[in-house]
Amino acid sequence: MNSTATTELAPASIDATTPAVVFEKVSFAFDDHVVLRDVSFTLPVGGMNILFGASGAGKSIILKLILGLFRPDSGTILVNGHRVDTMPERDLLALRGDIGMVFQEIALFDSLTVAENVGYRLREETSLPANEVDERVKEVLGFIGLGEHGDRKPSELSGGQRRRVAIARAMASKPRLLLFDDPTTGLDPVIATTVDDEIVKLRDLEQVTSIFVTHQIRDAFYVATHQATRTSDQIEISTTDTERARFMVLHEGAIYFEGTGTDLLASKDEYLKEFLFMTLPPW
Ligand SMILES: Nc1ncnc2c1ncn2[C@@H]1O[C@H](COP(=O)(O)OP(=O)(O)O)[C@@H](O)[C@H]1O
Ligand SMILES: [Mg+2]
Repeated sequence: MNSTATTELAPASIDATTPAVVFEKVSFAFDDHVVLRDVSFTLPVGGMNILFGASGAGKSIILKLILGLFRPDSGTILVNGHRVDTMPERDLLALRGDIGMVFQEIALFDSLTVAENVGYRLREETSLPANEVDERVKEVLGFIGLGEHGDRKPSELSGGQRRRVAIARAMASKPRLLLFDDPTTGLDPVIATTVDDEIVKLRDLEQVTSIFVTHQIRDAFYVATHQATRTSDQIEISTTDTERARFMVLHEGAIYFEGTGTDLLASKDEYLKEFLFMTLPPW
């Protein structure tokens, strides 16, 4: 591939109001094991959806459907105005070029430096000249606060730093949509917060649209109630009363709850209370 993948997609009929992701009555099963039943939701451009759900609820499947790695049995999936559920494989490759992914098992190349890892996709999948790749790599490493670590190997970094490198790699190609699949699992709360801060910065300073899949209640509420602002040459993270994300809870194949974090915490629903209680304390 010698041009940026996204330029190969035929233009969709989109305007300023076209959401980044739309699920319309999406159903999906593995043989007779129904994973999703008539799931519908919308993610506006610039927005963030937090997707909660117990292990096995179907969270990762939703992300894989967005990427076109699986096709739904019925229903419609739109990404940036494009029909993904019926999209030919060739176009899916192009579509994925505009989506960044941060998965739980971060597959960094151990033999490459941090900078080479971050620039890998830019070098392999785009026609960007080498000096511009280097520039972008520097920029994103600076953004995540690892500007001094470009020459290190991933094995020389802490677990939290490696997750941040994975985020830098996902954002290097300036995707419009970022998918985070349990990005803080296995990290202690303090380190997890450094990863959460990067996600907040991407949303508030880079206007990246995202889906944040997690079963860590603490991280979800942290991201929803914090904001990033840029002062002259500093980036500040502070709390905000206006929630910056929409919460969804996936349960029994359906979006069981959708709304604000405040409403979720106040819910009298038995399942939701148990879901929250089981993970409390500590956050
Ligand atoms: N490749 C697969 N083949 C068969 N079943 C699968 C496959 N991937 C996931 N599943 C099943 O689909 C359900 C949803 O999986 P997943 O989306 O990975 O859950 P989670 O919410 O933990 O991310 C689970 O019951 C899981 O066992
Ligand atoms: Mg999963």
